[in-house]
Amino acid sequence: MRLRPSRDSDKRDIYRWLAESDVTASMMGPPIFPDVSPPTWDEFCADYGPSFFDYSRPEAEASFIIEVGGEAVGQVNYEIRDALVPYAELDIWLRSQADTGHGYGPDALSALMMHLTNTLGIQRFVIRPSARNPRAIRAYQKAGFEIVPMSVQQQAEVYGPGDYADDVLLIKDGPAEAHSCTVASS
Ligand SMILES: CC(C)(COP(=O)(O)OP(=O)(O)OC[C@H]1O[C@@H](n2cnc3c(N)ncnc32)[C@H](O)[C@@H]1OP(=O)(O)O)[C@@H](O)C(=O)NCCC(=O)NCCS
Repeated sequence: MRLRPSRDSDKRDIYRWLAESDVTASMMGPPIFPDVSPPTWDEFCADYGPSFFDYSRPEAEASFIIEVGGEAVGQVNYEIRDALVPYAELDIWLRSQADTGHGYGPDALSALMMHLTNTLGIQRFVIRPSARNPRAIRAYQKAGFEIVPMSVQQQAEVYGPGDYADDVLLIKDGPAEAHSCTVASS
């Protein structure tokens, strides 16, 4: 596996995987998420500005393509924020159901966390899936995250608004473990 910075030419694919693929229903839209609509293309572009896709502000935010055997199988992104200590909030989605269940998600998260520790000194990582996404919660626990019991209202006060009314807060503290996955810088 390898992570490489996402490019503007990846943006449409990343959007399709999020909003128009067979993994979309595990994140948004009915029947599991009638309360969270998939974003339109314009909404997606408003949420993910150009610097996610040109690696121009790695100190603040970036998206990476997850490659397996040279093929793009998903994306993982981060935003650096501050709540007493600097932390990175992460988000990840794979390209299709067929790509899930192979350990790519935890591997990509571990690689990104190691990269952020090495390059920016980040030692706190936050990820907030819905309680209705047990596969994601399990995958994040495999990557070393632990559930921190906190109401959604408290989470919003400390970490800003999340994506779901039933957000689960998972945190990984401390230096990321050594990881063999490569992170390319361009
Ligand atoms: C969430 C995601 C990134 C995880 O990556 P992944 O490579 O599929 O994760 P893994 O294969 O390592 O692990 C998934 C784990 O969840 C478990 N799992 C699968 N379905 C489950 C369920 N319904 N309930 C509980 N655990 C479940 C698997 O058994 C596996 O655990 P195990 O290795 O101990 O058996 C990926 O599945 C994905 O992109 N899903 C669709 C998009 C999404 O939900 N993104 C998260 C938004 S917050």
